[in-house]
Amino acid sequence: MFEKTTAVILAAGQGTRMKSGLPKVLHPVAGKPLVHYAVRAALEAGCGEVVVVVGHGREAVEAYLAKAFGASGEKPEWAGRVKTAVQTEQRGTGDAAKAGLSGVRAEAERVLLFYGDVPMLAADDVAAVARALDEDGAATLAIATCTTEDPFGYGRVIRDARGQVVEIREQRDLKSDLERAIKEWNPGIYAATRRFFEDALASLEPNNAQGEYYLTDIVRFAAGRGDRVAAVPSNPDVMDGVNDRAQLALADRAMCERILKRHRLSGITIRDGARVEDGVEIGADAVVESFAVLRGRTRVGAGAVVDVGCVLTNADVGEGVALKPYSVVTDSVVRARAQVGPFSHLRPESDVGEEAHVGNFVETKKTKLDRGAKANHLAYLGDGFVGEGANVGAGTIFCNYDGFQKHVTRIGKGAFIGSDSQLVAPVTIGDGAYVGTGTTVTKDVPADALAIGRAKQENKEGYAARLRGRLKAQKEAAAQKK
Ligand code: UD1
Ligand code: MG
Repeated sequence: MFEKTTAVILAAGQGTRMKSGLPKVLHPVAGKPLVHYAVRAALEAGCGEVVVVVGHGREAVEAYLAKAFGASGEKPEWAGRVKTAVQTEQRGTGDAAKAGLSGVRAEAERVLLFYGDVPMLAADDVAAVARALDEDGAATLAIATCTTEDPFGYGRVIRDARGQVVEIREQRDLKSDLERAIKEWNPGIYAATRRFFEDALASLEPNNAQGEYYLTDIVRFAAGRGDRVAAVPSNPDVMDGVNDRAQLALADRAMCERILKRHRLSGITIRDGARVEDGVEIGADAVVESFAVLRGRTRVGAGAVVDVGCVLTNADVGEGVALKPYSVVTDSVVRARAQVGPFSHLRPESDVGEEAHVGNFVETKKTKLDRGAKANHLAYLGDGFVGEGANVGAGTIFCNYDGFQKHVTRIGKGAFIGSDSQLVAPVTIGDGAYVGTGTTVTKDVPADALAIGRAKQENKEGYAARLRGRLKAQKEAAAQKK
């Protein structure tokens, strides 16, 4: 829609008020850095190109953008549309805008400029300002404005006697109680021709309380030469900037609520207290219980149940799966109708097959269980394969590590591993084989064989009673000596 519009996003500031080593725009809200939402809003609005102004923590911000909006990023078709421009010294938003403008391609006719610290802003909100410029033929600059009861901290919109916007004045530069009482404020979205920005930004002077170049002074520039400034009334609920960690927490809550609502309206039951971060996909009729946390590239299939307290990070959960309470799944796959938990820990590269069961206190890592395999209680399965329908008994351990290297354990189809067995890798248990309870398996077991590696049991009749008598007598003798 805005093919010839370039979005310029200001993201070079340090964010002093965050009191953090991490650049402000990399602080996450619902699992994604602040700057992610700004860039996405510009791309979804259809801007042909996005220039992100970087400076403080430049390498980290550039690395993030390259990853998130590159060929393997959120949408491969966005690759190549996000660029950066560098602001070498953070001398204010006006100076940052100038740096951004130098990165705008020659074909761009129009520039849509906004800040990288307003995460709730979506495509429609920024598009509305660009559209207003088209619709109001007389205006050379369009800006968003909001009106709320307490706009403390924001730049205020100053209008003249005729109601025309003539200036934006920062909180610190407000001169009177009358100005401080102004309820209309600047959320920071500006649209104009590229030419206007060039002229306006060239005129800026750092004559304000902070001694910085204020982007907001472009409004005074426009009004001063008799241009009309179009003010676009905007929804204040999505315009809050994040400048400190208290505001970060509010933005995180608002974003999570927005995400939950979208899922709920698409037919998913999500109980109060669950957290679903940006980018997670959930199928119809799935249920997400309280205090579950779903993040990263997690996918949950239709009808699956993610029970209380589960933590899913980049988890691929199939249809009809039951993830019972307090299971942790990281970078792993759980296939259709499998059951996991309660209290299971699937570490990276685990793959639980269809209808397979992984039960309480079972830890897996880089292990594939084929269809219907079961490991129901207290086991460690690392670097292994468990064949279709095989049963791994309670307390079984894949001894995969010799202190230097990891080795593989293979269990064949339909094999049965008795409880409390140790399988010392590398080792293979053939299809249909049995491993007797308490066996330490150090050699491969052929298909359909029984491996048993424990001492033979011997019963000594009456021995326990005799032993008790002897021990009791010893205790009494010792007590008399005292
Ligand atoms: C700014 C506006 C204010 C508005 C508010 C809305 C100005 C002067 N003030 O104030 O009118 O109400 O946003 O949220 O524009 N940045 C740079 N380089 C710099 C300084 C800042 O790139 O030298 C970037 C920051 O990374 C940030 C954005 O610009 O993403 C806004 O800067 P910030 O310091 O947060 O401005 P506010 O005080 O919030
Ligand atoms: Mg801000």
